[in-house]
Amino acid sequence: MKILMVTAELTPFAKTGGLADMVSALSLALHKTGADVRIVMPRYYSIPREGLTRLEDPLGVPLAWKEEWTAVYTAKLSGKVTVFFIDHEQFFGRDGVYGSPWERDFHDNPLRFSLLCNGAFQLCRKLSWIPEVIHAHDWSGALAMPLLKFRERYREFKKTAGVFTIHNMGYQGIYPKDFFPQLGLPWDCFYASGFEDWDRINFLKAGISSAAALTTVSPTYAREIQSPESGFRLDGLLRARASCLSGILNGVDTEIWNPSKDAFLAKKYTLNTVSTGKAANKRALQERMGLEVSDKIPIIGIVTRLVDQKGVAELFAPTWGCMYRVCATMKVQVALLGSGEHWCESEILELQKKLPVFRAQVGYSEELSHLIEAGSDFFLMPSRYEPCGLNQMYSLLYGTLPIVRRTGGLADTVQNYDERTGEGTGFMFDNLTPDTVYDTVGWAVWAWYNKRDHITEMRKRGMAQKFGWDIAAKSYLQVYRNALGKH
Ligand code: ADP
Ligand code: GLC
Repeated sequence: MKILMVTAELTPFAKTGGLADMVSALSLALHKTGADVRIVMPRYYSIPREGLTRLEDPLGVPLAWKEEWTAVYTAKLSGKVTVFFIDHEQFFGRDGVYGSPWERDFHDNPLRFSLLCNGAFQLCRKLSWIPEVIHAHDWSGALAMPLLKFRERYREFKKTAGVFTIHNMGYQGIYPKDFFPQLGLPWDCFYASGFEDWDRINFLKAGISSAAALTTVSPTYAREIQSPESGFRLDGLLRARASCLSGILNGVDTEIWNPSKDAFLAKKYTLNTVSTGKAANKRALQERMGLEVSDKIPIIGIVTRLVDQKGVAELFAPTWGCMYRVCATMKVQVALLGSGEHWCESEILELQKKLPVFRAQVGYSEELSHLIEAGSDFFLMPSRYEPCGLNQMYSLLYGTLPIVRRTGGLADTVQNYDERTGEGTGFMFDNLTPDTVYDTVGWAVWAWYNKRDHITEMRKRGMAQKFGWDIAAKSYLQVYRNALGKH
């Protein structure tokens, strides 16, 4: 089967979150099944042209009244899957995927991602390679779905099915409708394609309305988004399209996230060597973060985008966030890596000045994120909502017990601790408040000091979990086949 992925992010080329990991791992898993998968994404300024191969001819992409000219570069993902990079200085020759510290959401994003999606079709034409499935991800790839459905421009794609994956309902891509003429659709599609949203354009809504099949990244999230609390105003639309929607749990790329192979660790380890392995990484993490080196204190790790979705207000909001209380009243250490909202970054730096047991690195670091997973005893993820969440799965595989809110993919991957039997793989709570986070962290810390045999067993249980991509890749192939059946 010929499949084209349309994405704004792809590990290892450009990543702001789990979407990048997911598209990369899914593509490789599909390739392994024998599928002909190709990926198209922008060439951002941060992806050096050296190391990529340039296609000889430029690629013209019509937006509205004029054609944009782009160069196309290629590279192989893990030596296997071809990635095409659309290179356009004005739109992509800047730092940041969706925005920068100075402009959180680039004002010309509709044009940038129109170039990506229209460019994807033009590229296939140029290569004389018409895929059977175009699989687009999140609002930034969503335009590919109505372009395919209405086919005003791209008539030769009449047998191609559109599959759309929702990674996060919280980001919809809503802009003034003045941009609409530059998306490649005629005005009579403004309503028909689902773009219209209170007289603005909504990319995610158009993707959901126009795709032949919809998926999201966990079964629980597939249910949650059909309710007003989690549907971000689109729950009605999702209920209407429920028969086309499936929830497929993301897997983990175990070539990258595997404690027995991980080159970023101070010491690699397996299920049989977990106690010495984790002890060595804990020491390395304490040294690296400037924490007291001791195996007598549990470490809580956090790696996150610092945005409301992740429950950061409940942790760090001045006066009522619970992190100060956790560090001041419990015998714990906290190691945090994160970047995001300014208020939160500066609050974290303030907290660090007051609390020697709280150490943070504000910024992005692939390497430290691996060391935190390996060196921590617990991993805290109190998400307000979590479509899938990858970090709790990385934690389980690294023998680090997740402390999570029971929502979305977290509910599907973590089993709550039962202190009578010792069963479970992590610590869970339902309502997100500073007190519930405080209490659940307290419960985990209590178990670490008082129920060490349970902790040891839970670790092993977590490490034995299987989060491979093989099963998910099969489910996606089934979705593709069903979508094709609809044509
Ligand atoms: P989301 O995509 O909503 O951010 P996920 O849990 O699916 O949540 O994926 C987050 C991914 O981004 C993980 O691979 C995590 O390690 C990584 N990540 C988040 N923040 C940072 C950071 N500051 N430095 C390094 N990696 C990060
Ligand atoms: C989004 C979600 C996250 C999910 C990731 C990959 O960024 O917030 O929960 O794991 O996409 O699908």
